[in-house]
Amino acid sequence: MKIKKLAILGSTGSIGTQALDLVSRHPDRFEVLGLVAGRNLDLLEEQIKKFHPRVVSVSDEKDASALQKRVGASALGGSPVPEIVWGQNGACQVAAMEGVDLVLSAIVGAAGLLPTYEALKKGRSVALANKESLVIAGELMTSVARQKKVSLFPVDSEHSAIFQCLVGNNRADLKRIILTASGGPFFKKTAEELKKVTLEEALKHPNWNMGAKITVDSATLMNKGLEVIEASWLFDLTPDRIDVQIHPQSIVHSMVEYKDGSVMAQMGVPDMRCAIGYALSYPDRIETGVKSLDLLEIGNLSFHKPDPTRFRCLDLAFQVARTGGSMPAVLNAANEVVVEKFLNKEISFLEIAEQIEKTLLKHTVSPLKSLDDVLEADQWARRVATTL
Ligand SMILES: NC(=O)c1ccc[n+]([C@@H]2O[C@H](COP(=O)([O-])OP(=O)(O)OC[C@H]3O[C@@H](n4cnc5c(N)ncnc54)[C@H](OP(=O)(O)O)[C@@H]3O)[C@@H](O)[C@H]2O)c1
Repeated sequence: MKIKKLAILGSTGSIGTQALDLVSRHPDRFEVLGLVAGRNLDLLEEQIKKFHPRVVSVSDEKDASALQKRVGASALGGSPVPEIVWGQNGACQVAAMEGVDLVLSAIVGAAGLLPTYEALKKGRSVALANKESLVIAGELMTSVARQKKVSLFPVDSEHSAIFQCLVGNNRADLKRIILTASGGPFFKKTAEELKKVTLEEALKHPNWNMGAKITVDSATLMNKGLEVIEASWLFDLTPDRIDVQIHPQSIVHSMVEYKDGSVMAQMGVPDMRCAIGYALSYPDRIETGVKSLDLLEIGNLSFHKPDPTRFRCLDLAFQVARTGGSMPAVLNAANEVVVEKFLNKEISFLEIAEQIEKTLLKHTVSPLKSLDDVLEADQWARRVATTL
């Protein structure tokens, strides 16, 4: 079997560490050539010692020199010392490394856009966790992937589920897709109760253990909204063919309905290693360490309609998906800014949706013809959302 050579962007995060867990389980299948992380030098140092990448990138120059000292020749006990690079250029260098077969894009937020785009431009297939890059630049990303004849494998569990349900079927027979959502920790709260929820409560996701930003996005349902836009690009579907259902058990990861009335679902216990493993090893399936699903123990699977009045973010994302142009980039940037404010305890939970909506209302939609147009819309939204 040919060893697949990987570059892992966001190696110290929730997705990155789970991907490296799979690499450790399958040394005969995967080799790590490059790593990109932000500021977690302790974990990155461990990863370098274990996986021996050739190039490693961190957020800034100061961290790059600190890391350089830590992983000097003597510290690595004779193993090759990696080249240490930094910043956006460093991340792009790792994404475009010679010899890489697949890039796992798992940096959080818009910071993942340029390295992901760079990987596709250099003709690398991408396993995509960084949904934000497709939300803000879906047309550019999918068209460069088509031009270069490379694949975008979904890592999000919902999109992986849809991808798995599409394999072996005729695309022309697809009627709609149904994305499931856990509903997050506040699914049962009334509008009045939502006024008082705290950051600590928002960070306690009932089923998934994820990074802070996506955990808050799950509580507001913005995560599902971003996933609707992501799905529209990945599967070339208009938003009216994408439904969302709240499924608190997170066992059915998503569903596909065909024109004959047949609905296919992909199920499993909530553990991202299943979706990451499929994206890394497609079309093969690998052992992931994921627990067996015991439906007898679970007993009951339930599905509910999302409430757009209590969870405005999902509705805003659907509106933005229909409008297109610069609107999704503005939605994403505004969300990143206001979620950061919420994480810093500067605003309340309900103000997240309010401030995103205010930013959207101030924006005049324009077409996104280039990466510069995307970055301009992103920067505009960040400036507006910051001053609200
Ligand atoms: N976690 C999940 O279960 C899950 C599921 C589906 C999709 N996703 C998507 O996957 C992506 C990653 O999510 P996550 O939960 O893994 O996030 P996370 O745990 O917060 O990890 C984010 C990673 O990105 C790195 N990073 C942040 N800013 C960076 C920058 N400017 N330059 C380079 N690296 C940077 C972080 O480095 P440091 O920690 O070293 O600073 C870390 O490695 C997100 O787009 C999310 O929506 C996640």
